[in-house]
Amino acid sequence: MAEREVTISIIKADVGSFVGHVQAHPDMLQAVKARLHQAKEQGLLIDFYVANVGDDIDLIMTHYQGSNNESIHKLAWDAFMDATAVARELKLYAAGQDLLSDSFSGNMKGLGPGVAELTFVERPSEPIVIFMADKTDPGAWNLPLYKIFADPFNTIGLVIDPKMHDGFTFEVHDLIDHKKIHFTLPQDLYDMLVFIGSPSRYCIKHIYANRNGEMAAATSTDRLNIMAGRYIGKDDPVCIVRCQSGLPAVGEVLEAFAEPHLVAGWMRGSHYGPLLPVAEKDSRPTRFDGPARVVALGFQLCHGRLIGPQDFFADVAFDRAREKALELADYLRRLGPFEPHRLSLDQLEYTTLPLVAEKLKDRFEDLK
Ligand code: 13P
Ligand code: 13P
Ligand code: MG
Ligand code: MG
Repeated sequence: MAEREVTISIIKADVGSFVGHVQAHPDMLQAVKARLHQAKEQGLLIDFYVANVGDDIDLIMTHYQGSNNESIHKLAWDAFMDATAVARELKLYAAGQDLLSDSFSGNMKGLGPGVAELTFVERPSEPIVIFMADKTDPGAWNLPLYKIFADPFNTIGLVIDPKMHDGFTFEVHDLIDHKKIHFTLPQDLYDMLVFIGSPSRYCIKHIYANRNGEMAAATSTDRLNIMAGRYIGKDDPVCIVRCQSGLPAVGEVLEAFAEPHLVAGWMRGSHYGPLLPVAEKDSRPTRFDGPARVVALGFQLCHGRLIGPQDFFADVAFDRAREKALELADYLRRLGPFEPHRLSLDQLEYTTLPLVAEKLKDRFEDLK
C-alpha cells in the first residue's frame, strides 16, 4: 500500500486588530484555537498551531484531507468568522478586513484569506520552516526563494550535496493575467529572473525537486486588492519550505533572510521598505505601520504532529539583519511620498490611484 500523504495547510487572514493594524487580539486567537481544537478532537485535523504575526492570524494545520479540501477551508473560514465576531464585539480596527464575502463557497479561492498547502509522504525526518509576513505582498518571497533553491552563494548544498545537483523547478504565477509557467533550473535561470525580478506581478507559487518531483515549497499568492478591486490591506503572505536530505538545510533556508531586502507594503500597502526578520513576539509593526515583518517558525513533523515551534529569528544571529533593516527604514522614510519609497503609479493602480485619477480627470489637458 502506498504510504499515506499528509497535508500541511496554512490559511491566514487579518480579521481585525488592535491598536490600528498592529496585532490580532488575544481573545481572537482564543476563539480560533477553540474552533481548531474541536476539529482536532473530531479527527478532521491531526494537529494545529495558531501563529500571530502583526495583525494576521496564521492557521497552521496538518491533516489527511489533501490540498484544497472543502472541509479544511471551511474550518478556517469558520475560525476567521469566530475571530471576526470577537473583533466586532471589541470594536477592533478593520474587523473582518480580509473576508471579501459573507459566505463560504467551496474553497478559499477569491474569498480573501491567503492559502499555502503542501501534500507529501512524510520522510523519516521531516523538518519544515514556515515563513509568515505582515505588511507586504506575496512577491516578498521571490528573492529569498531564489536564493534558497537556486543560488550557491546562499545554499552551498547546491554545490556539495550531490542530491541537489539536478536543481529545482519553479512554478511562477502571473498574478495580473492569471497564467502560470514552470522554469526548470539551473537551465532556465536567466529566463526566470526576467520575470521573478518583478515581484509585484510574478510570484513563485511552488518549487519541486527535479531529482524526484517532490514538492519542496509552497507560498500563498492571493492578492487581496486585485480580488477586491480596491484597497483593503496587504496580502501578508505565508510560505512553507521543507528542508534537509536533498533539500536545502534549515540554516540555508534561514540564511536567505540575513540580508534584508526591500519589499512592497508598509504604510497603506503603498511603500517599499526592508523586510525585518523578527521573533513572533516582536512581530508588531508600529513605525509607519511597519516596517514589514517576517517570522520563521520551524517544526518537525511526526506522523502529522507538529513538534515545535522553533522561533528561528529570535536568534541573535539575526540582530545585524535587523540593524541593517532599520537603517534602510530610516533612509527610505526620508524620501516621504517620493518613489522609490512610495510605490510606482502602475502598482498603485490596484489600490488608491483610480480614486485620485477619477477626481482629477477633467483637469488634465492635452499638451499642444
Ligand atoms: P542533510 O544532508 O541531512 O541535509 O544535512 C546537511 C546538514 O545538516 C547541513 O546543515
Ligand atoms: P494590513 O494589510 O496588515 O491590514 O495593513 C494595512 C495597512 O494599511 C497598514 O498601513
Ligand atoms: Mg490590518
Ligand atoms: Mg496584516
